This record gives sequence, C-alpha cells and structure tokens, in this order.
Amino acid sequence: MARFENKVAVVTGAGRGIGRELALLFAREGARVVVNDLGGGPSGGGGDVSVAQKVVDEIEGAGGTAVAETSSVASMAGGKAVIECALDHFGAVDILINNAGIIRPKRIDEMSEEDFDIVLAVNLKGYFATVRHAAPHMMKARGGVIVNLSSPSGLGHWSMSNYTAAKEGVTGFSRGVARDLGEFGVRCNVLRPVSTESSMNAVPGIFETIAYAEERLHIPPVSNRYLSDNGTPSGSVHPAVVAAWLCTQEAASLNGREVFVFGGHVALVQEPELVRSQFRAAGWTLDALCAPAVSGALTYDIRNQFVGVA
Ligand SMILES: NC(=O)c1ccc[n+]([C@@H]2O[C@H](COP(=O)([O-])OP(=O)(O)OC[C@H]3O[C@@H](n4cnc5c(N)ncnc54)[C@H](O)[C@@H]3O)[C@@H](O)[C@H]2O)c1
Repeated sequence: MARFENKVAVVTGAGRGIGRELALLFAREGARVVVNDLGGGPSGGGGDVSVAQKVVDEIEGAGGTAVAETSSVASMAGGKAVIECALDHFGAVDILINNAGIIRPKRIDEMSEEDFDIVLAVNLKGYFATVRHAAPHMMKARGGVIVNLSSPSGLGHWSMSNYTAAKEGVTGFSRGVARDLGEFGVRCNVLRPVSTESSMNAVPGIFETIAYAEERLHIPPVSNRYLSDNGTPSGSVHPAVVAAWLCTQEAASLNGREVFVFGGHVALVQEPELVRSQFRAAGWTLDALCAPAVSGALTYDIRNQFVGVA
C-alpha cells in the first residue's frame, strides 16, 4: 500500500543526505515530490542546480513523480518559490519537510557575524520562509504536516554556538507553529536525528568539535546522555523513515513534539521540565538565593555534570 498516495510533499535540502532519502521514500510511497536543493556547500554558498535534478531523475527512473526546485530557502523569496513550485506543478502542499542545513564550526571568540547570520538564515529563517508561505494553503485545506529538522547539537555542542542557536530555535519555532496551526488540522513536529552520512562531515574541524568536548571537557558530544544507536549502523535512511512516519496518520496525535533517531534507536524527546524547585513566599533576594541550601539545590546537577564549571 502506498502511504502517501495523492499527497504533495515538499522537501528542502533534498539533494543529499537525509533529505534525499526522504524524497525517494515519499515518491516510493506515492507522493508527488518537490525536491528543493540549491546544491550548495555544507558551509553555505555554492550552487549546483544538477544536485536536485539528479534526485528527480532517480525518482522518475523508478516510476515516481517529482520536480526540482533550486532556490535558497534562506530568503523569504526562496521560501515562497519552493511553495509556489508545489502549487504550480501539483496544486497543493500537504507535507513540508524543512531539512536544508549548513554548519560553520567556530569557537565563539572566533565566530564572525557572517558565520552566525548565514547559519541562522539557512537553519532557522529558512524554515520560517517556507512555513510562512505554506501555512495559508494548509489552513485553507484544513490539513497538513510540517516536520522541521533540528539536531541533538541544539542541546549544546562545543564550537557550534551558531548552529546550536539555530537548531534549538527550530524547536521553539515548531512549538509555536504547532499552537498556531493545530486548530486548523495542521501539525508541526521536530526531528532530532543523528546520521553518519552527511555532506557536513566534509567541513574542516567538525569531528574535532566532538572529540574536544569528549576528551578535553569530558562533556558528552551533544550534552545529552541518551545517545545510542542500538548497534544499528547509522545512515540517512533511519532519520528519513522517522520523518516520514511523523507525516502518517499513526503519528496524528503528535503536535509540537520532538522525536530523536540514531540508527536503531527512536525516542520521543521529553519536554523540558522544572526541577529542584525552591519556593519562598516573600519572593527571592540575592541573600536568600545565596543561602547554601538553596544554591546547593539549584546548582547540584550542573556541578556534577560538567567538568570545568567552577
Ligand atoms: N547528519 C546528521 O547527523 C544530522 C544531525 C543532526 C541534524 N541534522 C540536520 O538534518 C538536516 C539534513 O542533514 P544532512 O546531514 O542530510 O545534510 P547534508 O549536508 O548531507 O544535506 C543538506 C542539503 O541541504 C542543502 N542546502 C543547504 N543550504 C540550502 C539552502 N539555503 N537552500 C536549499 N538547500 C540548501 C545542501 O545543498 C545539501 O544538499 C540538516 O538540517 C541538519 O542540520 C543532521
């Protein structure tokens, strides 16, 4: 049974990696697919229009239906063009996967304004640009699914503060969109994947950011401790499958939530919780907060979790 028969799926950054796998999967499952990719480098820039077309050729070669779209999603005009492509060619936009991403690893004292701006433009504003233009159509159709690609790096990643800001921004953005569009039957969720197949692996210094955090700072690479691949090789396939599952009826009760995937490990991400709450009827003063019992309770986790915190 084709699960996405009669659906129109838009996938940004679908020329390589997770996005490519997802475009192929949607097409195999009957969807008509807009394959967006500007064919850029993993740190931004560039532009090879053949990257998106190759995926379209692959889909069509297997009997599917797809169209290539080569705008950069980093601008409002680009986001609009991607959605208009779906409407012009296929008359609808039922599924939107915001997957385009780039990285520019630099420690904060070496990060330029451009390093910050371009990473935010692709990984965060680019998601707004497409959602902003897709939302009116999904609202009118009273249905639609959006999946935004975040990252475990959003939880903290050494020398990647631009990327961590963008990817954690994606989570907050998605929670907001979920609340805006839920009453119109439109869902918006987040995927935090780990994949070993990525053109970002070619970016100089990327593996050092992980090794430094682990070996020198004794901080898990992405600061969360639940990473496990369950022994299953990790590639782009597993994240693509989970992103597609988020678009099915079986996941219809999820809106504004996050799912993690790494090889054979898939999990719902716990929403942030308030822990070690302290209460003071008169409100807090600096002296009251500095009392050993209160400061001790509020800082206990941090002291034990990160080496190097005074
Ligand atoms: N690979 C991982 O382990 C991993 C982990 C966490 C999060 N992610 C996220 O998953 C997504 C896909 O990652 P991947 O590893 O498959 O990446 P990838 O680098 O292999 O592919 C990303 C694609 O996005 C395209 N792209 C970049 N900027 C664009 C723009 N402005 N407009 C349109 N297309 C653009 C690139 O040309 C590229 O083909 C990204 O958002 C990434 O941040 C990946």
